[in-house]
Amino acid sequence: MTALDFAPLLTPGLPPPAVKFNGFPKYNFTGGHNDGEQIPLEAIVKAANDVLTREGKTLATYGLESGPQGYRRLREFLAQKLKRTAGIACTADEILITSGSLQALDLVNGILLARGDTIITEAETYQGALNRWTRLGVSAVGIPLDGEGMRMDALATALDDLKRRGIRPKYIYTVPTVQNPTGTILSEARRLDMLRLAEQHGVPIFEDDCYSDLIWDGQRPPALHALSQHGGVIHIGSFSKSIAPALRVGYIVADWSLIARMLAIKTDAGSGALEQMVLGEFCPAHFDEHVPALTRGLRKKLETLMDALNEQFGTAAEFEDPKGGIFLWVKLPDQVDTLKLYQPALAAGVAINPGPEWTTDKAYGKSRTRLCFANPSHEAIRAGVAALAEVCRREFGVPNRIANVEKARA
Ligand SMILES: Cc1ncc(COP(=O)(O)O)c(C=O)c1O
Repeated sequence: MTALDFAPLLTPGLPPPAVKFNGFPKYNFTGGHNDGEQIPLEAIVKAANDVLTREGKTLATYGLESGPQGYRRLREFLAQKLKRTAGIACTADEILITSGSLQALDLVNGILLARGDTIITEAETYQGALNRWTRLGVSAVGIPLDGEGMRMDALATALDDLKRRGIRPKYIYTVPTVQNPTGTILSEARRLDMLRLAEQHGVPIFEDDCYSDLIWDGQRPPALHALSQHGGVIHIGSFSKSIAPALRVGYIVADWSLIARMLAIKTDAGSGALEQMVLGEFCPAHFDEHVPALTRGLRKKLETLMDALNEQFGTAAEFEDPKGGIFLWVKLPDQVDTLKLYQPALAAGVAINPGPEWTTDKAYGKSRTRLCFANPSHEAIRAGVAALAEVCRREFGVPNRIANVEKARA
């Protein structure tokens, strides 16, 4: 029997097929994985047991008797936590629980974007957001960053320029609090500038705040959503970075009129219930003690990574010490093309994220790479950076010193 050929039946314009998972590489610096040693397992097991024993019968209903916006206790925790940490005044009714904040991106895009639209974003930004705009046929205008996040002079110029061309961007997408990939925090003064510019131009702000709990000194400016006077901010967040990405729980904070439009296109009849129940039980008792412990551990891993890079790459690896999070954004010498470094590095067991996948300007991203330090152990970070330096030297001739030992060019 010959197998049916599905190829001619596939919807035109699909993205390239996914690559089959064959296990993680030995030294995995990719993606947004968290630290397995820091998952608060005992408390999660207890929370699961307690909540299921008490409320398990609600699993018989779609939405756990809380309705399509998600488990009520979790939304109530979020409303209270967002007020306390980010200054956001919202009720549980203005929160929609999603399947990770990736679904939040899809829902916001789903109600706002159409082919041919334009959006504004940080020029170095989240690959998941960039891919979505490409797929939707939306143009992304990249605004450069400095050590304080998106540059407001450049934003003002871009908004004026678009206006002159008769283009009203659909939103300004920003990761203002521990930016991905740069690790910067947009200062409060710039937040106020951004809000003023956005209001002047009648453009909403799409605030993606999933790293904001992971700040080394715990200090964060109020969320853009909190500072907004005119309600033009949609805020999204996630438990992926503060607890565990496999749970797939994120959320959207927006006016009910927008949530109502998003619910109408959220076709999964509710996000996974067990995860929401467990988080709704775990978080009120444990979130505040868990996050600082996690952050301390992440900071130590970052220090190991920065040490290892200094030791193995010397001045060939340039980076700013990020304000928090799980990534280091590294600039290698100009002759390094990280898209071309990717395969030989992988063959040596080292997975990296090439810079062009995280930038609107691919040439700018060429010699940059994003390294996630949360998942590998300290030993794996050291060994992985040493292996990466060897491959980089073999392929591009840099660093010409490894571990402070001068190497002859092959
Ligand atoms: C800026 C940003 N937004 C959203 C996400 C999506 O995360 P999740 O769907 O796990 O909440 C990520 C993940 O890395 C991210 O970096």
